[in-house]
Amino acid sequence: MTLGIGVIGTGMIGQDHIRRITDVLAGGRVVAVADADRSRAETAAEKPSATVHDDAASLIAAPEVDAVLICSWGPAHEEAILPALAAGKPVFCEKPLAPKQDACLRIIDAEVKLGRRLIQVGFMRRYDTAYRALKETLAAGKVGAPLMYHAAHRNASVPADLYTSDMAISDTMVHDIDVARWLLDDEVARVRVMAGRRNSVGGDLRDPIFSVMEMQGGVLATVEISVNIGYGYDIRGEVSGETGTIELAEANPVVLKAGDGFSGRVPADWRERFIDAYDREIAAWIEAASAGGATGPSAWDGYAITAVSDAGLRAAETGEAVEVHLVDRPDIYA
Ligand SMILES: NC(=O)c1ccc[n+]([C@@H]2O[C@H](COP(=O)([O-])OP(=O)(O)OC[C@H]3O[C@@H](n4cnc5c(N)ncnc54)[C@H](O)[C@@H]3O)[C@@H](O)[C@H]2O)c1
Repeated sequence: MTLGIGVIGTGMIGQDHIRRITDVLAGGRVVAVADADRSRAETAAEKPSATVHDDAASLIAAPEVDAVLICSWGPAHEEAILPALAAGKPVFCEKPLAPKQDACLRIIDAEVKLGRRLIQVGFMRRYDTAYRALKETLAAGKVGAPLMYHAAHRNASVPADLYTSDMAISDTMVHDIDVARWLLDDEVARVRVMAGRRNSVGGDLRDPIFSVMEMQGGVLATVEISVNIGYGYDIRGEVSGETGTIELAEANPVVLKAGDGFSGRVPADWRERFIDAYDREIAAWIEAASAGGATGPSAWDGYAITAVSDAGLRAAETGEAVEVHLVDRPDIYA
């Protein structure tokens, strides 16, 4: 069976997922698209020969749509997820699940009422070879119990007119929150965010920031977010354990030694760094959705990450450590 996929939101990542479903992966076909900007949807529909819909509701109702891939802006995710769940159609939703916790909880309620998972959220680092090796090496006990996890997320640049100080937490650090929870298999208890000397390249932007998340089990997870660092997109992670450390390797496949130096490529952006991870996460979704279910990061993960991000925003504002309070986790997410 080929899964008929309806894509809501055909901007940057929507187009990229349409490309991978159409040109790279097996098992799915983009049969319908919708975007608030109809001309963008029409362009995106050309190669897969998809039908164009004016809104999420009509796309979800279309009989040829078996499953729904949501790549609209975060605040529009809930209005697409709830009708997809009501129609019993599996959902892949780009991160964030929703930018507000109350919206996340409404989504969780709807999925719990169905009694089974139908949603995968787009936290793709879990599908990255290097992150998987980090988790597997930790789980194999090579460094004993983890004590600290250090992460850095560095962007070459961000658009000055679109990127706000809060987005360093709600849009960027959310990936590091996801990794900390997944890698350490634990929830965040409290979070602190500090900002020191600013990068003058970003003008008024609060950049860089440094965050410390205290996990419930006591592990400290630290994150540097720098979004105008110039040299490239550089993603780092290191576990410090009782008897050793485990570090993500450099992302470049070769190291060049010539003249009197050595060098390697730093990825230009997230598409280059995580291209294989995106392929794997969408392949996993197609497989699970074709069987009528869901896998990978869940709506619970999406909710917990938004809760930590909200606490992080308050921590940045107050300079205090802010507690993270989660509702009880429903059994379907055990
Ligand atoms: N996983 C990742 O690494 C990653 C990377 C980039 C973006 N994202 C997420 O993907 C989503 C989209 O990001 P983007 O960079 O593609 O943004 P974008 O602005 O390029 O595209 C978003 C598209 O959604 C459309 N849209 C907005 N509201 C809509 C609605 N109610 N109905 C239909 N269409 C609507 C817009 O017209 C636009 O074409 C965001 O939630 C973002 O956080 C995730």
